Amino acid sequence: MVSKKELSELIPQALNETNLPLPGKQSGKVRDWYDLPDGKRLIVTTDRLSAFDIILAQVPYKGQVLNQLSAWWFKKTQDIIPNHIVSIPDPNAAVVRTAEPILVEVIVRGYITGVTSTALWYRYSLGEREIYGYTFPDGLQKNAALPEPIITPTTKGGATGHDERLTCAEVVEKGLLDQKTWDQVQSAALAVFKRGQEIANKAGLILVDTKYEFGRAADGSVVLIDEVHTPDSSRFWKADTYEARFKADEDPENFDKEFVRIAYADKGYRGDGDIPVMPADLWASASERYIKIYELLTGEKFEPGSYPVEPRLVENLKKAGVI
Ligand SMILES: Nc1ncnc2c1ncn2[C@@H]1O[C@H](COP(=O)(O)OP(=O)(O)OP(=O)(O)O)[C@@H](O)[C@H]1O
Ligand SMILES: [Mg+2]
Repeated sequence: MVSKKELSELIPQALNETNLPLPGKQSGKVRDWYDLPDGKRLIVTTDRLSAFDIILAQVPYKGQVLNQLSAWWFKKTQDIIPNHIVSIPDPNAAVVRTAEPILVEVIVRGYITGVTSTALWYRYSLGEREIYGYTFPDGLQKNAALPEPIITPTTKGGATGHDERLTCAEVVEKGLLDQKTWDQVQSAALAVFKRGQEIANKAGLILVDTKYEFGRAADGSVVLIDEVHTPDSSRFWKADTYEARFKADEDPENFDKEFVRIAYADKGYRGDGDIPVMPADLWASASERYIKIYELLTGEKFEPGSYPVEPRLVENLKKAGVI
């Protein structure tokens, strides 16, 4: 395990952006990507940490954890649905098949929780009982398990737009997908989620909820893209303390990005106004958590890649014939 001190010292070197000798760079909040020949794409997962739709910091090894953890999950679920991975030429990079993104974010939830505007608990706490087309009974407690996992889709807002809530029926009614494809996507999402919950459970964790993205490959088939069951796309709770804390009306111990949001909320920040400056220690702790969850889920020791990342990346991409 990399020490907290080492992690703090690495913060200035964390991978904020890439400038690879490849044409057509594009960037999302967390990833940079470059189009490659033959319908492929190079996706580099950087160390950028975003929350409240803002990039808050660079967290050492976060990119590596996300890239390698997703690659691990893609393998663990490829018998359920094919995915976009072609190869992993570097700890921070994946060569993928470029897909035509399906413009629905497929969120699967096993529990009623969350405080953002699209979260189930938030809507429920406002008094809503018809949420995402499902009817919820009175008297539910925050963080309760749902009788079975449900799909709560949203539109994929892209760089500027906000994600809008949808019911499963609206996905078809609004012409976002045909019924047959949507049925296929829903059953894949539920099966991948079930697999995720089983594996997380063996690691002493609860996979609470997650977001999947799907796309269409060149041959028209549906593939799983983007990332799978990472602490950025999912909530994880510690399994052994969940029950006692739930009975005591306490929030579970989380093992995802939520603790960063909580640190900001403790300083009175919820997404509007001036952003408080956070101590380096918070980002070193974030780094520790990302590494820890990788090790818990995969059961493998995290092998830290060398810093600075970019020269290593260029070397690995040359070796793999990508550049
Ligand atoms: N195989 C693929 N083919 C096409 N697009 C992909 C593929 N895999 C991932 N993507 C897209 O690449 C982007 C990844 O970048 P990143 O995760 O930084 O985006 P983001 O800031 O989360 O943006 P978004 O709001 O679009 O999800 C996402 O827009 C995702 O939909
Ligand atoms: Mg993303």
